[in-house]
Amino acid sequence: MQIYNNAGDNFLELSLKEKCPDINISKKKEGYQLEYKKRNMKFILILDEYQDIVKQSKLHIFNRIFKKTNLNILDCTGGFARDACIISSLGNKVTLIEANPIVSLLLRDAIYKVQSSKIKRIFDNISIKFGNCIDFIRNTNKNYDYVYFDFMFNINKSALPNKRDQFLRKITDNDIQTNRNIVKETIERMNCKVIIKEHIKSNDYEDLNIINTYKEKVVKYNLIGNG
Ligand SMILES: C[S@@+](CC[C@H](N)C(=O)[O-])C[C@H]1O[C@@H](n2cnc3c(N)ncnc32)[C@H](O)[C@@H]1O
Repeated sequence: MQIYNNAGDNFLELSLKEKCPDINISKKKEGYQLEYKKRNMKFILILDEYQDIVKQSKLHIFNRIFKKTNLNILDCTGGFARDACIISSLGNKVTLIEANPIVSLLLRDAIYKVQSSKIKRIFDNISIKFGNCIDFIRNTNKNYDYVYFDFMFNINKSALPNKRDQFLRKITDNDIQTNRNIVKETIERMNCKVIIKEHIKSNDYEDLNIINTYKEKVVKYNLIGNG
């Protein structure tokens, strides 16, 4: 018997063929599997695996940056929602925006397949939107406590990133000038603090009003004051 794919499967297959012909996608019971044959690499986004990260979230630098809980955070670069998951697990509400349709579909499918009740509760406090964050920012009336950006890093002096980040890097687009314009317009439009994560060695936002920088080994978080 032939099994027909649904529209989402067809869309993923065609979009990947166009964007990254060297990545194959197939459906497994755990979720969509991406395969990059050249590097012998396979990846399925399984959000239950974030349990280990969430256990450590009190130690995460976000806990030092936010200081309070019950905050409304706008995550403008959602990706595979690792950061959103940590922020939500610290007791905040997150609105996550993702512009890449492949990433957005994989994320929605992975949320649907979550088994752990703890991870389910964390994702109940994350509202997922598809689109360019700047369109959302131009049209929202909602006030946020922080707007968060984690664009793909431009410099890659670190060891090869994990599989999740390697696939994200291949699938998504990144342009520093576009990112800088988005951040600047966001600061003008939104009356709240902005956090920008970047590689520890890059200084792409040094002309902005950075009021604090929280450093880890490989990344840093710039806190931009507003108003
Ligand atoms: C480095 S990843 C973010 C990883 C994410 N913080 C996580 O924890 O999984 C950057 C993501 O931002 C998305 N992105 C880039 N520009 C965007 C924009 N203008 N609006 C919405 N999403 C954007 C990319 O498609 C990519 O998925």
